[in-house]
Amino acid sequence: MSVNSKLYEGKAKILYATDDPQVLLADFKDDATAFNAQKRGSIQGKGEINCRISSQLFKQLEANGIKTHFIDSPAPNQMRVRAVKILPLEVVIRNIAAGSLCQQTGLPVGTILKQPLVEFYYKNDELGDPLLTRDRLYLLELATPEQVDAITHLALQINEFLNGFWQRCGVTLVDFKLEFGLDSQQQLLLADEISPDTCRLWDTKEADSNRRILDKDRFRRDLGNVEDAYQEVLQRVLKAIDSN
Ligand code: C5P
Repeated sequence: MSVNSKLYEGKAKILYATDDPQVLLADFKDDATAFNAQKRGSIQGKGEINCRISSQLFKQLEANGIKTHFIDSPAPNQMRVRAVKILPLEVVIRNIAAGSLCQQTGLPVGTILKQPLVEFYYKNDELGDPLLTRDRLYLLELATPEQVDAITHLALQINEFLNGFWQRCGVTLVDFKLEFGLDSQQQLLLADEISPDTCRLWDTKEADSNRRILDKDRFRRDLGNVEDAYQEVLQRVLKAIDSN
């Protein structure tokens, strides 16, 4: 596979064209941003760790019937993916209250939700990724009602699988963000990444509310030991897959 021009550089990844128009190469970066890029930094080894975790999770999801953009991982920080047109939506699934849900509703952090909450945000940096209602989503023609129903169904299926997987890692899946894309046949595929950058992951056995955090909140909130937390998550993922 020869790698051609750079197509897009995002906050966490660079996408390159390849000699096959249906295939792109994603290069995961160590750069870290938070609060819509107002906070910037770097997490050493993050690109490789997130690529390895995402690759393993996409493989597991594929094995469980979820269609993803993942093809393979030619290098530890690189993923070959199917070319898709990303829908401008950030789909957030929550099991436990944290982050913006608590800030916007007053729910105490750690409240266990009676059922998973699926939310849609407008993927638009200039507007600060606002929370959407379904009517606003349709008004802006970001997706069709059929696509929204299919995404909601997939998001809940993915959540059910990931809850079980992270449980085997001794990790509680608090919430996470997914992105979806359409391939050349208009097929809906899970895209982007699933990693400590895009999930809230709490060490299940750790009672201390700061020490239990194994995700990007360590960077967002300057809690320290960011690299260690990401590395710990990778090791637990590899162990869970090994012992399967
Ligand atoms: O900030 P908020 O509480 O809405 O985030 C919910 C989840 O979505 C968190 O796991 C966060 O890491 C993820 N997220 C993300 N990218 C964004 C916004 C949120 O991965 N742009």
